[in-house]
Amino acid sequence: MSELNPILAGSAESTEAYQQAIAQTSAAVVQWLQQPEMYQGKSVTELRERIQLDFNPQGLGNQVAIERAIEFFLKDSLSVHHPQCVAHLHCPSLVISQAAEVLINATNQSMDSWDQSPSATIIEMKLIEWLRAQVGYQAGDAGVFTSGGTQSNLMGLMLARDAFFARQGHSIQQDGLVGDLRKIKVLCSEHAHFSVQKNMALMGLGYQSVTLVKTDEFARMDINDLREKVAQAQANGEQILAIVATAGTTDAGAIDPLREIAALAAQHQIWVHVDAAWGGALLMSEKYRDYLDGIELVDSITLDFHKQYFQTISCGAFLLKEARHYELMRYQAAYLNSEFDEAAGVPNLVSKSLQTTRRFDALKLWMGLEALGQKQYAAIIDHGVTLAQQVAQYVTEQPSLELVMKPQLASVLFRFRPEQLAGSDDAAIALLNQKIGDALLDSGRANVGVTEHNGVTCLKMTLLNPTVTLEDIKLLLALVEKTAQPLIG
Ligand SMILES: Cc1ncc(COP(=O)(O)O)c(C=O)c1O
Repeated sequence: MSELNPILAGSAESTEAYQQAIAQTSAAVVQWLQQPEMYQGKSVTELRERIQLDFNPQGLGNQVAIERAIEFFLKDSLSVHHPQCVAHLHCPSLVISQAAEVLINATNQSMDSWDQSPSATIIEMKLIEWLRAQVGYQAGDAGVFTSGGTQSNLMGLMLARDAFFARQGHSIQQDGLVGDLRKIKVLCSEHAHFSVQKNMALMGLGYQSVTLVKTDEFARMDINDLREKVAQAQANGEQILAIVATAGTTDAGAIDPLREIAALAAQHQIWVHVDAAWGGALLMSEKYRDYLDGIELVDSITLDFHKQYFQTISCGAFLLKEARHYELMRYQAAYLNSEFDEAAGVPNLVSKSLQTTRRFDALKLWMGLEALGQKQYAAIIDHGVTLAQQVAQYVTEQPSLELVMKPQLASVLFRFRPEQLAGSDDAAIALLNQKIGDALLDSGRANVGVTEHNGVTCLKMTLLNPTVTLEDIKLLLALVEKTAQPLIG
């Protein structure tokens, strides 16, 4: 490629450079995929020293830039496809998702307006229609793809807030927040995702606006406590702008009782948003779809496809039950979504999104659904949920392991607690488990999560990977024990 033209376009020199760059990178990816280690085990200090940016004024050229990315990024990346990489809700990705990324990146469509993404706009709208049907919403296209759960939760909370004020004849959009803001509350369970707090702070209402509802022994929202918290709020003269239910809490995978929550909220005219970032995968499930019973009743929903739908980051969606609520965030920019366009029925998705420029991430889900089909998709999702049940059973049979929570989705919370430490206090056991997690990652052999559940520090395996078997996890648990031995005492 000539030095003056580094742009992807149709000229012979550009397409040749493109093919070379893609061939060089994909060959490196194939090599990386085959390396046996989960991680090379470098520490923060080692990586800081090793990685040096080289912004040579003359430019290094594509080939060298790619070689350096392989050397300094790829080799020390975490192998998310490795069977012992189970710390987070962080999935290995579908092959078809990689192909979709090639198309998304090469075409560089932007989803804000029709004239920047014509076919992509229609595909995204059709997928939203399809997702709504899966949920059980009425036919329509109210919803949009997002960068993930945090943004989808923000959209739900923001529209709940704006609908709440609109009922009192006030437009947040025009006039901003008014009144005694400390009286405005959102209720969610004590295991809801922290993005509820962060989003409420972002919306000007602060962490103080979030009231935590107690949970039952399976980390699900306790409906009696919810009823009490609603009554208490009313007695205190507080106003509840939303209840956020979770379908799949981050650690325990707990699914709140959606139908009961929706019924209670309906009595009090309270918006319900369901954070189904994780549990939304069960929409595809053959065995476990009924866990989401009642989801069709709520006002808005978060879905995430870069969790148990195995799409590359990022890929999420927000669904809105009633399209009329989109009016609450209406903004018309002459250059993107003019009244003229709207009158002519031109869909400009910026009207439905918090983002302006936006990736065509919907393509990944569309291609995934077409390539795998419902049955295979359901099978790879159900695999993790069933595996977690088997692993939990195995954990209960090991004398030095303790199951902390019965699994509900695809995670297993447990801790190492050998008989020789039976007399030790909880703080010592907690420290030991923390050290086990750290030592595993330092060795590069495994990434097991360390978290806290109801005050108990424990280890977590999030078993999303459909290629992982019970035998793999038995090996991993043996490694946990082996790693723990030198740390005892
Ligand atoms: C239940 C839940 N909601 C929301 C999120 C945030 O999603 P994202 O990381 O896609 O913003 C997470 C992340 O793990 C989650 O577990």
